[in-house]
Amino acid sequence: MEHLLTVETLTNEDVMALLNRAFELKKGVKVKQQDDIYAVNLFYENSTRTRTSFEKAEYALGYQVLPFEVATSSVQKGESLYDTVITMEAVGAKVAVIRHSENAYYQPLLAQLQEKGHSIHLVNGGDGSGQHPTQCLLDLMTIYEEFGHFEGLKVAIIGDIRNSRVARSNAHLLTQLGASVFFSGPDYWFDESLLIYGPYKPEEELLKDMDVVMLLRVQHERHSEGEDQALFTKEAYHEAYGINQKRYAEMKKTAIIMHPGPINRGVELASELVEAPKSRFYRQIQNGVYVRMAVLEAVCGGK
Ligand code: CP
Repeated sequence: MEHLLTVETLTNEDVMALLNRAFELKKGVKVKQQDDIYAVNLFYENSTRTRTSFEKAEYALGYQVLPFEVATSSVQKGESLYDTVITMEAVGAKVAVIRHSENAYYQPLLAQLQEKGHSIHLVNGGDGSGQHPTQCLLDLMTIYEEFGHFEGLKVAIIGDIRNSRVARSNAHLLTQLGASVFFSGPDYWFDESLLIYGPYKPEEELLKDMDVVMLLRVQHERHSEGEDQALFTKEAYHEAYGINQKRYAEMKKTAIIMHPGPINRGVELASELVEAPKSRFYRQIQNGVYVRMAVLEAVCGGK
């Protein structure tokens, strides 16, 4: 694996190999420190979890991390993504983790890099509403850790689906791995192209049967001007779609709630439920470090 850009290139065997390695790393297996590898994290969109857990993963593998901030870099003077990446390669980076607001930014970038014979490895840290491969893998790790399998699990993905790269990546790999995926949330933020993965149903019909309830953040930054004012108030969203005490109590005893973060407290989920027994948010974040270590090892080690 030279790059990880989309989950669509991963077979079930690839996924299980990455998860098994992440579980080994979580158990504390000794890692060969690769202090000759330099990594750079190019985050053109804001991030807390993805960026810090990639950094933690890089340090845990012994990599050197080149500092880079878009706001103080020559991106502000108009330097393109391609020119930034090949500059980082010339400085010495072997791998670049990139988050960008443009869907599939990596397609023209990779084509240009390959055409010119560059060998820097790319890992997608999230592209617009396209893909979020490492979030998907850490979600899969969290689900597998809980249930020990994917086959037959019922997973509801609820919320601002149209704008969610997490929904797209998770729906793809969960169905490929044998889980049943259902969608719910506001119809104005649903995307019918996802019906290939599973049906769109009212939340009240789904909750009592689900093994996993995956909540999505309302992504105001991707909504068009006026869309929020016309369609959204926190209170109305929470009332119609949020997990409150009543909906929480209706869920199966063994069910878990996931959220990629950041959580809008009192919107997707009642604030007092963020650390409730069914919540797995902080487990997801912990698992993210091990998944990202496994991905970086695979990409930089050609596994
Ligand atoms: N889940 C996720 O991508 O969070 P950040 O935007 O904080 O990285």
